[in-house]
Amino acid sequence: MSVLTEMESWTALSQHYEVIRHQHMRDMFDTDPRRFERFSLRLNDLLYDYSKNHITGETLALLLKLAEELELSQWIARLFDGDLINNTEQRAVLHMALRANQDEVIALDGVDVVSEVRAERLRVNKLAEAIRRRDWRGVTNQPITDVVNIGIGGSHLGPLMVTEALRPYRLHDLNVHFVSNVDENHINDTLEFLNPETTFFIISSKTFTTQDTMVNAETARQWYIHKVGSDEQINRHFAAVTSNAVLARQFGIAEDNIFRIWDWVGGRYSLWSAIGLSIVIAIGSEQFEQLLEGAHDVDVHFRQTPLDRNIPVIMALLGVWYNNFFNAQTMAVLPYDQHLHCFPAYLQQADMESNGKSVDRSGQAVDYSTGPVLFGEIGIAAQHAFFQLLHQGTKLVPADILAPIYTVRCIQRHHRALMSNVFAQTEALMRGKTEQVVRREMRDKGVTPDEIERLLPYRVFPGNRPTSTLLFNTLDPKTLGSLIALYEHKIFVQGVIWNINSFDQWGVELGKQLASAILHELDDVESVSGHDCSTNGLINYYKRQRPRNSTQA
Ligand code: F6P
Repeated sequence: MSVLTEMESWTALSQHYEVIRHQHMRDMFDTDPRRFERFSLRLNDLLYDYSKNHITGETLALLLKLAEELELSQWIARLFDGDLINNTEQRAVLHMALRANQDEVIALDGVDVVSEVRAERLRVNKLAEAIRRRDWRGVTNQPITDVVNIGIGGSHLGPLMVTEALRPYRLHDLNVHFVSNVDENHINDTLEFLNPETTFFIISSKTFTTQDTMVNAETARQWYIHKVGSDEQINRHFAAVTSNAVLARQFGIAEDNIFRIWDWVGGRYSLWSAIGLSIVIAIGSEQFEQLLEGAHDVDVHFRQTPLDRNIPVIMALLGVWYNNFFNAQTMAVLPYDQHLHCFPAYLQQADMESNGKSVDRSGQAVDYSTGPVLFGEIGIAAQHAFFQLLHQGTKLVPADILAPIYTVRCIQRHHRALMSNVFAQTEALMRGKTEQVVRREMRDKGVTPDEIERLLPYRVFPGNRPTSTLLFNTLDPKTLGSLIALYEHKIFVQGVIWNINSFDQWGVELGKQLASAILHELDDVESVSGHDCSTNGLINYYKRQRPRNSTQA
């Protein structure tokens, strides 16, 4: 048995679960009219309502006791102090330094990282603003009209999500595109309508070795050379963001166009760094500062607020409550804001690459459940797709609902309809619909008694399905920065509770290793026999079936 599940507070939570699982949230609300005030928190223009969760004051007290027993406050201090908490890679985890105030000093190995961050940001801003002002000219002296970020994972999902979320803040005559998939369709579809003389590529890769990115980068470079007729002035069209400047130079990127990130910035936590170059180009450096400020506000909140009023801590503890005691395997993230349509995909990497681990910090296999399967979709779309399962399925799916009180280009007719759904769904999921109500409704509609009895079981909603709601004024850069940072810290807290390292990702290595070996086996027409019979069969079938002229390109 692990230390975690033997802890006093864990045992107390297990016993408490046996009592509370028989209670309905409907009754909790009926007996406590102050439940909303008791279980909601504010931070700037954010309201976090967690009252529609399967908790009582005792539940929270027990969860907080668990956090204290696991020395969460000390872990938070260690995180901000730059301790090497990424213990398998011996690295600090300091993405918070990327959004620190200019006058803060965060020293790592005797070097103030905040001033290094600032210096790099000035370089990023200079390039981005030159492109935005149309001062940056391409090979034929034309301004840039299209920027293509080539990257994957953290070097893609963050910038994509943010530029989509902040659409109203983008310049109309400057398009930003994202290419991540090594499937040639992605880059072909993107380049098809672009003009190389007015296109600027950003090769975003912390390692500068990721296969997908390097293959796409090479295709972009060949496209440019082919269309322009030479590699003349290629430095007017290519930049790199990486911690591996040597490989970027070898690829042919000019020194001035190489932007640095540090090993203490994890890929999935990197949008605040120069990896956000495409964001700065899209929304401008002033708005990017706002994004950073919103995240910084959450850093301060997370670091200084007592655990019982600390939003990321509460978010994390609720997740642990469902994951480890209710045995929920999943969680849903449901933004009711079209501009957040990439948020669930972004969070999937942030959460699942961080906490999808089964070995603890001391190298022991865990005997409890860790990170959930996170999924999500725009709330309105999800209502007409998978909400059926949330309401009446056999699985408990705790859900986070995010919604803006108004939008930048608000049309009341739309927005009222949208918000009516937000409130209706959280209420419906919590309250459900009892047999009594279903009977009455059908009777009122004149349905016959026999028909009522036949349909009754299908029309009852059990309710008692948990949601937490994050309402914010509007999706501006500052609020978006705060939202992202809330989830980042939530993930960290859960990693502390589960005693796992949230900042490595060894689990992605095996596939990469095998792919690089198999890549060579695809070069010729010989059959392979070195794998299991399924893999051999698939590879050999592919080799036989592929068009003859596609073996090399
Ligand atoms: O394969 C996973 C991963 O290493 C992620 O952690 C990372 O965000 C992504 O690949 C891209 O890595 P890089 O920025 O080094 O190309």
